[in-house]
Amino acid sequence: MANLPKATLSVLISLTLLSFFPATLSFPRLRSSRFLGKFSSFNNKGSLGAPPYRYETRYFDQNLDHFSFSDLPKFRQRYLINTEHWAGPDQLGPIFFYCGNEGDIEWFAANTGFVWEFAPRFRAMVIFPEHRYYGESMPYGSHEEAYKNASTLAHLTAEQALADFAVLITELKKNLSAQACPVVLFGGSYGGMLAAWMRLKYPHIAIGALASSAPILQFEDIVPPGTFYDIVSNGFRRESISCFNTIKDSWDVIESEGQKSNGLANLTETFRFCKKLESTDDLSNWLSDAYSYLAMANYPYPADFLMPLPGNPIKEVCRKIDNSPNGTSILQRIFEGVSVYYNYTGNAGCFNLDDDPHGMNGWNWQACTEMVMPTSSSRNTSMFPPYDYNYTSEEQWCLENYHVKPRPTWITTEFGGHGFKKALETFGSNIIFSNGLLDPWSGGSVLEDISETIVALVTEKGAHHLDLRSATTGDPDWLVEQRAAEVKLIKGWLDKYHGRKRTAFDM
Ligand SMILES: *[C@@H]1O[C@H](CO)[C@@H](O)[C@H](O)[C@H]1NC(C)=O
Ligand SMILES: *[C@@H]1O[C@H](CO)[C@@H](O)[C@H](O)[C@H]1NC(C)=O
Ligand SMILES: *[C@@H]1O[C@H](CO)[C@@H](O)[C@H](O)[C@H]1NC(C)=O
Ligand SMILES: *[C@@H]1O[C@H](CO)[C@@H](O)[C@H](O)[C@H]1NC(C)=O
Ligand SMILES: *[C@@H]1O[C@H](CO)[C@@H](O)[C@H](O)[C@H]1NC(C)=O
Ligand SMILES: *[C@@H]1O[C@H](CO)[C@@H](O)[C@H](O)[C@H]1NC(C)=O
Ligand SMILES: *[C@@H]1O[C@H](CO)[C@@H](O)[C@H](O)[C@H]1NC(C)=O
Repeated sequence: MANLPKATLSVLISLTLLSFFPATLSFPRLRSSRFLGKFSSFNNKGSLGAPPYRYETRYFDQNLDHFSFSDLPKFRQRYLINTEHWAGPDQLGPIFFYCGNEGDIEWFAANTGFVWEFAPRFRAMVIFPEHRYYGESMPYGSHEEAYKNASTLAHLTAEQALADFAVLITELKKNLSAQACPVVLFGGSYGGMLAAWMRLKYPHIAIGALASSAPILQFEDIVPPGTFYDIVSNGFRRESISCFNTIKDSWDVIESEGQKSNGLANLTETFRFCKKLESTDDLSNWLSDAYSYLAMANYPYPADFLMPLPGNPIKEVCRKIDNSPNGTSILQRIFEGVSVYYNYTGNAGCFNLDDDPHGMNGWNWQACTEMVMPTSSSRNTSMFPPYDYNYTSEEQWCLENYHVKPRPTWITTEFGGHGFKKALETFGSNIIFSNGLLDPWSGGSVLEDISETIVALVTEKGAHHLDLRSATTGDPDWLVEQRAAEVKLIKGWLDKYHGRKRTAFDM
């Protein structure tokens, strides 16, 4: 079992889930956050069709390095903008600014209905800038060049991304003579972390931030490393103990099956992979990814965020696992269960582990440099194979794959972490940390009010930044209330800002 777990924290998402993280990268896997991560190479255009929201796509020439005066080529940062409802500079029309995270910005725009739906009510402009090194916002002209080596990737950092946002918004306001217009930040997941950090680092640029599912405390030893997988596991246990136990027992079965002659061929057939499995690890990772994503996307109604899924998808998976006819083997049950995730549409002919030959994606680089989020799988409380966090093996992986050594204490030095709440209470204001406790990332987020203006909005049954999604007729009351509370707080920030400005003008 030594090789097992590696459930990856690939947090976020990906419609093309099937294709990332090729086998060659899988051991030792980065156990820390692959966060939101799997977006990076994903291309939403085919699967999403026309974007549901109207915007104009523009490009802005950015400095590659905001923190030196070296003569590096500029790169084109893409941003999406809609000014249809904007009240304009004279009326101090607000600017709603989504902090783009690790993926194609159009995909985030399509999955962040909340911002689009509330902007007209506030007569706000909407901007979705893309994060550097993702989507079309590639330094050095192409993905291939940008991802070539540690020197070309060196400017893929959260600090540079925040500086991009700051420069972009400042320039844009100047162009529109909108310098006095208030900016409100939004973000989900890593984007939520960026929104919160931006509010703290650039308080003169934005008046407040809604940081949804933002695990800013998932660093060093601030929260226990087992948190993420414990929450995933609890999501299954709360549906059914036998489901939890079947999954927990399955890893050994997979491992011992793999050791038989013909075992890998047998597993390949049972799980209907297109190509023969090369190791049981690949299968275990494939399953672990599915369980983790299911926990993140455990929404109360059918949705197509990571994959098309039914409402309460974990309940559905457990139903399949538990209700297979007596005598059904553990592996067959697991297959039936995981098919809810990988084949809900019924369109999969066979499953692919890897069609990403380069395997280079931005989040892996970020996780190998700044975003070191220790992750383990506890023996008693997790349904995943036990795994103790081992920084040394991660460091080795990063050196081998990127020739870079992580700096695990940098994020907390730069943005805070230990004693963070105390510092925020004294020096911060106007941040909403929203979370749903079903979301495995909620464990590393801020779940308690820090002050009167830095508040936590927590729902028991929410999953990964559910609140940022567009409203649906299937929304339960607790979700409607969470969004209403957010709107009320944001309105409060804006009213106060406008009130102050008016007073200033009157004098
Ligand atoms: C990385 O690639 C660039 C562009 O090809 C090259 O100029 C540079 O020397 C390479 N750096 C390293 C450390 O290999
Ligand atoms: C502001 O206007 C200049 C000149 O037209 C343009 O080059 C630049 O891209 C604009 N900035 C933004 C953020 O759109
Ligand atoms: C796979 O293994 C199981 C249990 O060992 C066995 O019943 C089944 O016939 C095997 N299937 C194939 C295709 O070899
Ligand atoms: C399966 O076995 C259990 C326990 O032996 C029994 O209660 C149940 O009725 C059986 N179910 C079916 C569908 O045979
Ligand atoms: C996906 O589901 C459909 C419909 O249930 C089924 O016919 C097909 O065999 C499944 N594909 C795989 C790879 O299991
Ligand atoms: C795990 O469970 C075992 C046996 O029940 C117990 O002895 C041990 O203390 C538990 N470990 C933790 C970390 O809770
Ligand atoms: C951690 O990983 C390193 C490198 O792979 C290995 O040498 C070491 O034994 C591991 N430590 C533990 C406690 O497993």
